[in-house]
Formats: sequence, structure tokens, C-alpha cells
Amino acid sequence: MSSLPAITAPASNAASDRVPIANPPPCHVAIIMDGNGRWAQARSLPRIAGHRAGARAVRRTIEAALAHKVGWLTLYAFSSENWRRPRDEVSDLTALLRHYIKSEIAELAANGVRLRFIGEAGRFAPDIQASLADAERMTAANTRLNLTIALSYGGRAEIIAAAKLIARAVAAGEITPGDLDEAEFSRRLFTADMPDPDLIIRTSGERRLSNFLLWQAAYAELIFLNVLWPDFGATHFAEALADYAGRERRFGARPA
Ligand code: FPP
Repeated sequence: MSSLPAITAPASNAASDRVPIANPPPCHVAIIMDGNGRWAQARSLPRIAGHRAGARAVRRTIEAALAHKVGWLTLYAFSSENWRRPRDEVSDLTALLRHYIKSEIAELAANGVRLRFIGEAGRFAPDIQASLADAERMTAANTRLNLTIALSYGGRAEIIAAAKLIARAVAAGEITPGDLDEAEFSRRLFTADMPDPDLIIRTSGERRLSNFLLWQAAYAELIFLNVLWPDFGATHFAEALADYAGRERRFGARPA
């Protein structure tokens, strides 16, 4: 039996030879805001108090993104699955959303924030749909921060919706199956005009994506923080950016 040569690490892999990695700041940060319920429970408060405190953390996070000149921030505020929560909580959450848009829109617009919403907006009450559309229209010319709020959003539903659009385009003779590539597919997602997230942060210690940006997360760096969302602030945001800066991003290739 021939013996295989021993596998040795290339000399350049020695720790002392490694150049510290300094990724440029992420272009797009996406956040799974988790832990509002546990935050409220720990204080013997109703869950809605946790969601209200979560909305204050949203404000701090937008300020941090502006301060760090992050161009794209996407927040997972309501998943397709969240409709299955008790009716009272769904109604509290939608009331909070209604209030948030009305009370924050002028300041967001004045700060150069462009708002977008991804998900099945049609499942919300007509007045909420109208205020989402107004907020998008009012801020459409802003460029300082692209803030996307995922509402009634599910990654699998988004992929199925894109697949249906492709099937229709093929049936109508607009494209052939051979034309289909990643760019063609991406153009039919809710996030068509957005860059993929470079960094996805999830709070509350849970370590999963929960149907968030499944297609777009292909090469995202993931950071899981042991902080409940209502306690999240500028320091956590800065620490996540520092952690990201030290990550080696290979996109499937070999290190340089
Ligand atoms: C997850 O925590 C959070 C949500 C389902 C709602 C997120 C909503 C906000 C942060 C506030 C409103 C946001 C906007 C943009 C107005 P959870 O309730 O699942 O917490 P738990 O896992 O501790 O129960």
C-alpha cells in the first residue's frame, strides 16, 4: 500500500505570519431583533412593553448606523410566522407599527433616511398599507441611509414568489429557462435593488436565521449577541462592526 504524503499546513498559515484582517465597513447590516418578550417578562411587564422598548432600540440603531456611515440597514420587525401569535399581541404590534411610522417619518426623512418595506404588505390593514407607501414615497430621494423594514416577511415565501414570476416570464416567452441565472432570479426578489447583507446580527442568544433573507444571506457574516433587543444600543452595534472587521471573507475562494 502506497503511503500518502503527510499533510502539513502551508508556512504562510502560521499564526505569526498572518496579517490582521481589516475588512472595509459593511455596506449592508441586517438585524434579527429578538428578545422583546423575554425583556418584558424579566420585568413582569406585558409583552407590548418589550416591543415598545424594542422600538426605542430601533431608533438608537438607526442613529448608530448613521454615525458609522453604514449605507444599508435592514430590520426584521415582523415575520410571516408572527401572524400566528395571539390576536392581542398581533394587534398591539400592528398598532405600534402604525404609531412608529407616523411619529418617526419626519425625522427619518430630515436625516436623509430612505425607507423601504419588504414582505407581504397587503396583509396589513389598508391604513397601514397607505402609510407604508407614503413613507416610501416621502423618502424616495434620500441617500444617506437605506433603511429597510421587513414586515410580514418570510424568506421562503419571497423565493417562491420570485420562482412564480420566473415561471410566468418563461410561459410568456419573455425569457428561456437557459436565461435564468442568479442575477435574473435576484431581480425578482423583494430586495431586487438592494445589495446582499454583509453582516447579519441576531440578538437574544438564539442562533438561527428564522426565515430571514435566506437567498441574500449566502455569504453574510453572522453575529449572535447575548443581549435582548430592547437593550441593544450603539456599543453593541460598534462591537459587531469591530468583530466583522476581523472576519476573513472568502466567498468560496482561497485566502489571498
Ligand atoms: C422578537 O421578539 C421581536 C418581534 C417579533 C417584534 C419586533 C418589533 C420591534 C423591535 C418593535 C417595533 C419595530 C418597528 C420597526 C416599529 P420576541 O417577541 O419574539 O421576543 P421573545 O423571543 O423574547 O419572546
